[in-house]
Amino acid sequence: MIVPEGLFGTTGTAYMFDRRQLIRAAMAAPLACALPARALLTEARAATPPQDEATMVRFIAGLPKAEFHVHLEGTLEAEMKFALARRNGLKLPYADVAAMKRSYIYHDLPSFLKIYYDGMQVLLTEQDFYDLAYGYLGKAASQNVLYAEMFFDPQEHLKRGVPIEAVIGGITRARGDAAKRLGIESQLILCFMRDLSAESAMEALDAALPYKDQLVGVGLDSDEKGNPPEKFAEHFAKARAAGLHVTMHCDVNQENTLDHIRTALVDLKTERIDHGGNIVQSPELVALAKSLGIAFTVCPTFSGRVMEGGQPINALRKMLDAGLKVSVNSDDPAYMGSEYITQVLIRAQKDSALTPAELVRIERNAFGTAWIPPAQRDGYLARLTAYAESWGVAA
Ligand code: ADE
Ligand code: ZN
Repeated sequence: MIVPEGLFGTTGTAYMFDRRQLIRAAMAAPLACALPARALLTEARAATPPQDEATMVRFIAGLPKAEFHVHLEGTLEAEMKFALARRNGLKLPYADVAAMKRSYIYHDLPSFLKIYYDGMQVLLTEQDFYDLAYGYLGKAASQNVLYAEMFFDPQEHLKRGVPIEAVIGGITRARGDAAKRLGIESQLILCFMRDLSAESAMEALDAALPYKDQLVGVGLDSDEKGNPPEKFAEHFAKARAAGLHVTMHCDVNQENTLDHIRTALVDLKTERIDHGGNIVQSPELVALAKSLGIAFTVCPTFSGRVMEGGQPINALRKMLDAGLKVSVNSDDPAYMGSEYITQVLIRAQKDSALTPAELVRIERNAFGTAWIPPAQRDGYLARLTAYAESWGVAA
């Protein structure tokens, strides 16, 4: 289910409240928001778990984080759209940034996707993709994201005649600069757009394979209705043979969602499921996912709630309680009230009554299922453990 527009805080008070909390937290603990997590460990403070809301916000702000479910094109803020349109000589159908943001109203996946794809028309050059990726990585680094795996949708860019080397080249250059200057590491996941033809997805994969060293995996996104994962069985097999990892969206409350989850797990042997909240409705699939060690990249602002018999249920809480390996992610923050990972976690903490230990567990799940070498993983986990210990939180 798509969360109603008011929740995204384009005008909503809940969002404004969270932002004020964050600003206060940043002023109370400037190091927590401005410096890499390494600096946090030196902060002199009694090791006491957060007891009140403001301290919880500080704890979340400083928490070393990883993010695996963020669509780069979904981080394209309205301000950047105007700047890129100007640079590329394009006219946008909105008077200003505020008018554009007011147009971000959607009620389900297709109505969201229409706005999302319209928005990315301004991305044309290598520099545009650099600016997009560097912009996201800068925000993520400022929120103590140590490591990110980012989705992109090449078919949509190839359609407009943008060469794949401009797309992958710009993002790769930004990744390198962000690693050097900001200390954030990242990798790239190519998504097949499931509502376009299988041929179009294969063309995109073939165009990208010469650059496979700049990719870590392939995923599957866009409109799920009538587009089951098996439509891309051949693509996943080819990508896997090329050494790439495999993940796929099973958006919440989609038609045949449990069948899609089963196919993804059993037939396509996915390593992760993006969203996947409806799995809590099938104890058998929960047991299967656990036995396979599948990671779930949950995006609570977008789809953390699913409907069961007409009643909303909190998928994140149920997934955690079921013992699934859940991480929390921001999905398309530019279209969701510009809430990046820290704001998403603050909201999730309140909505799902997450304890400090559960927040640490979520990040442990994330680092634990990242597609990175063991030494890099061990380094991140050590930083997470040290952070938890510095707050007296059992890790
Ligand atoms: N493309 C961008 N965000 C998406 C989402 N949450 N689900 C499917 N396709 C997407
Ligand atoms: Zn997504």
